[in-house]
Amino acid sequence: MIKKIAILTSGGDAPGMNACIRAVVRSGLINGFEMYGIRDGYRGLLEDNIFKMDRHSVSEIINRGGTILGTARLPEFKNLDVQKKGAEILKKHGIDALVGIGGDGTYMGLAALSRLGINTIGIPGTIDNDIASTDYTIGFDTALNTIVECVDRLRDTSSSHQRCSIVEVMGNRCGDLAAHAGLACGAEMVITNETKFSKESVINFLKKEREKGKNHAIIIISEKVCDVYELAHEIMYKCGFETRAEILGHMQRGGTPSAYDRVLASRLGHYSIELLKKGVSSSCIGIIDNKLTTNLIADALAMPRPSSEKFVKITNDLE
Ligand code: F6P
Repeated sequence: MIKKIAILTSGGDAPGMNACIRAVVRSGLINGFEMYGIRDGYRGLLEDNIFKMDRHSVSEIINRGGTILGTARLPEFKNLDVQKKGAEILKKHGIDALVGIGGDGTYMGLAALSRLGINTIGIPGTIDNDIASTDYTIGFDTALNTIVECVDRLRDTSSSHQRCSIVEVMGNRCGDLAAHAGLACGAEMVITNETKFSKESVINFLKKEREKGKNHAIIIISEKVCDVYELAHEIMYKCGFETRAEILGHMQRGGTPSAYDRVLASRLGHYSIELLKKGVSSSCIGIIDNKLTTNLIADALAMPRPSSEKFVKITNDLE
């Protein structure tokens, strides 16, 4: 019988993580569990940075971006010795179950701890939306709305100056942020790691746009595809189109979570405790067609992620 449950956030922070922490802690307490927070992800676990939480520990946080627990990336957690130390620290505190909010790296850590006798549930929290076992991850909607707001602003100045604006967005090799933002912003072109990219095709496209009489354009591009400053330079040189490149960067990760992210986070947090109560473990949860779902973490990690190309196609068709 589980008595003590701990929660951590790990990897890149995402808006809505706090709403999820709140839901996990309050649902846990209502169900009679002792609840513990772990600061700074797996790094904090190894440092034994664990504290007891009550309902007031999560007051006034549903509307706050970031994560009150702090987060970290810890590649060393791939090593068995390090994982064993983490499991021992949890056992020393009598903690039988761990809820982790994060992306793939977080899930891998949870899977390892499950093998060492800890009950685990993973909740998808990352702006990248790169977890295959869920339609949406906590934080994606807020980050998308932030991007849309930025691109709308850029459009004003870009059209006034008759320029081409290249906007690089995050996604860590997942094209969802770029593809959804392209559609929502009416971009002229979207480039992701999933679409074939060549500088020549971008330049030819823009030349044709110019011939059609277009005097400004928005191109949304995923990070890690190419150097956007070099691309802007080449467009200016080869098409004579005055071009600016913008990298939105970490501002995409901050800010007040959207209502959608708060609702998703609260539903998933609440569900994680329902599952632990039923004895479910080594699992991650998600939302598919608006229904809460459960998968073994190992299965979720092996699933191919659906491509965002269909959104890119619609954007291009509507251009
Ligand atoms: O995983 C979230 C994310 O923001 C990615 O989109 C991005 O590639 C990465 O994290 C940036 O990581 P860091 O904050 O460690 O620079």
